[in-house]
Amino acid sequence: MKQVDRFIINGPCRLEGSVRVSGAKNAVLPLMAASMLTGGTCILDNVPDLRDTRTMMQLLAGFGAVSSLEGGRLEVDASRITSFEAPYDLVRTMRASIYAFGPLVARFGKARVSMPGGCAWGPRPVDLHLKGLGALGAELTIEHGYINAKAGKLRGAEITLTIPSVGATVNIIMAAVLAEGRTVIENAAREPEITELALALKSGGARIEGEGTSRITIDGVSSIAAYKHRVIPDRIEAGTFAAAAAITGGRIEILNCAPSHLGAVIEKLEECGARIVCGDGSMTVTGPERLNPANVETGFYPSFATDMQAQIMAVLSIARGTSTIVDRVYPDRFTHVPELCRFGAKIARDGNVAVITGVEKLEGAPVMATDIRASSALILAGLAAAGETTILRVYHIDRGYERIEEKLRAIGAAIRRARD
Ligand code: EPZ
Repeated sequence: MKQVDRFIINGPCRLEGSVRVSGAKNAVLPLMAASMLTGGTCILDNVPDLRDTRTMMQLLAGFGAVSSLEGGRLEVDASRITSFEAPYDLVRTMRASIYAFGPLVARFGKARVSMPGGCAWGPRPVDLHLKGLGALGAELTIEHGYINAKAGKLRGAEITLTIPSVGATVNIIMAAVLAEGRTVIENAAREPEITELALALKSGGARIEGEGTSRITIDGVSSIAAYKHRVIPDRIEAGTFAAAAAITGGRIEILNCAPSHLGAVIEKLEECGARIVCGDGSMTVTGPERLNPANVETGFYPSFATDMQAQIMAVLSIARGTSTIVDRVYPDRFTHVPELCRFGAKIARDGNVAVITGVEKLEGAPVMATDIRASSALILAGLAAAGETTILRVYHIDRGYERIEEKLRAIGAAIRRARD
């Protein structure tokens, strides 16, 4: 029986103090998968010990890549890859398992990966991943819930993504670095995590230009040497703590973060009345006595991150006035709405639009976590709500936040984990 933890929070509280942000989940997962492109041992530093990190280690072990994680340092020995299948029971728990495709097809010409599962909201297709790999010469078939890929030597191609998909950009880069000739990705994703993958691969001898822009050019090489790379701070964790300062009217110094990765989020929180002072690798966020309403539209990086949509919704639920949120990346990403309403929030959803009528205060309630970022929004609401909040299915939170209850307790939150 899976251990089902829950969080118990007593609010309201005003968070004060300093918190250190961990390494970025969405940077470390591609970097771990890409280690299979090399024939050696890759070393990653500032790695967060998350459920998703452990799941990716399990996935790599299934292929024969042995890894160890100790004190934030991850070593992956990808010298002996003996299997090329990513099983359903792992893939269904973490969508990033699809990242096995790029490296396995590029280096071994074959891979068999279950169709992904991942977060609970809406359809999350992988057609752009398959289109990209197909363009590079892989033959793809889907049967019994698995995607089979077969390829000889991949050949570079011009690929235009209809949507600047992070995952598809990651997979195409990993496949193209060992392909014959030049690959150009038009309308590539521009996230900092993509830039980090490119920098690590370039340190191993890959030839990549344009990472971080919409046009990425890759000239294939014959092999990639094992790389050593320090993982960037998690911009969504940093944004979540900034939202925590805003919703509790507190003051948090957020250390080991990259404010430059959070421009749109900082701007929106300042519009809500938060005061944000950015330093070199840190930012101090002071929440206002009463929050202003705001209108938010999520979009592709560097627009406001969809991974911060649930958190800003919690903040806006106690603003003085009416706000709107439009999610232009995931129209269905609203499983947190009914849970936030259990705190007394007044939120009406219509398609990919939510209208939030601010209330004076929230009341603690028993609620259910449904995915990583929705869960963090419930924590934010629980911190601001009067009374006791219980959050069930905390494993969702542990997928993407490292020891979050310890970090929150250290800055004044009354939060504890109970094991059922
Ligand atoms: C990455 O997911 C992140 N996950 C997500 O973070 C994040 O929400 C998302 O990017 C958007 O920023 C990781 O990096 C591991 P996409 P990904 O491909 O790559 C559509 C978290 O909480 N699409 O950029 O799966 C898709 O439906 C997670 O840390 C296709 O249509 O996202 C969506 O509407 C949640 N076909 C849009 O593109 C495809 O083949 C963006 O998705 C692929 C995507």
